[in-house]
Amino acid sequence: MQTMHYLNEFYSHYDEDGRLSKKHGSVEFLTTMRYIGKYIKPGDRVLEVGAGTGRYSHALARQGYTVDAVELIGHNIDVFQNNTQPGENISITQGNALDLSAFSDNTYDITLLLGPLYHLYTKEDKRQALREAIRVTRPGGVIFAAYVISDGCLLDEGFLRGNINVAEYVKTGLLDRETFAAKSEPKDLFELVRKEDVDELMRDFPTTRLHYVASDGCALLLRYAIDAMDDETFRLYLDYHFATCERADLLGITSHALDVFRK
Ligand SMILES: C[S@@+](CC[C@H](N)C(=O)[O-])C[C@H]1O[C@@H](n2cnc3c(N)ncnc32)[C@H](O)[C@@H]1O
Repeated sequence: MQTMHYLNEFYSHYDEDGRLSKKHGSVEFLTTMRYIGKYIKPGDRVLEVGAGTGRYSHALARQGYTVDAVELIGHNIDVFQNNTQPGENISITQGNALDLSAFSDNTYDITLLLGPLYHLYTKEDKRQALREAIRVTRPGGVIFAAYVISDGCLLDEGFLRGNINVAEYVKTGLLDRETFAAKSEPKDLFELVRKEDVDELMRDFPTTRLHYVASDGCALLLRYAIDAMDDETFRLYLDYHFATCERADLLGITSHALDVFRK
């Protein structure tokens, strides 16, 4: 499958550890863990769909939770397995977020879908991944779904760092000339959305939104300033970020968003 080819290429060479070792790169992880921490309880069972190399799965297993993980790409599964420490109650299987039939209905207290929606290019596929995540979660359980947000990425990858040629994207139709809404295909790797798209995807699911969070807020846009902060200033920045990351007037500027909802 074409998508698999592009994902294999990307994730087999991606330096995730390098990104996370920088202060700006840690904001999204710390924010997501903070929100998971608001809902997870002793003895909970966790499923991580699209677990990658296992940042969240291993962190939660080391806190004593039972974690099952699913990941599409073999290279990530190898790294995930190498990262497993003695004493972790954890499993990983190769699988696709679109079909979790290896997992029973109503099983998990916490379900994480932190990545697959970045790489599903139609509404129907995104809804199918959400439907599967909801199915395997027990009634009352909490689901965490992450998205890449187009305006944050355009500002950071485009206007700040020039990794995206904005003029070219407009010319080729990847960005709408009037609204700057993004469009992508498997060759473009990342599917960029806005909050209105997330709201529309979620409209017909019988779930209750608990939080919609700008998980890295301005951290990528402010990467140079944040990486130069001493530890005390960075702690203050995190206090600011945690205090403001659900403010409606700051949501669109984030590069990643976290939708937290209850089944
Ligand atoms: C951005 S990474 C995030 C990994 C991890 N959840 C984290 O936050 O560190 C996205 C992950 O989703 C995986 N993925 C993409 N599409 C998937 C799918 N359809 N089913 C399962 N995993 C998928 C990718 O291989 C990759 O490991």
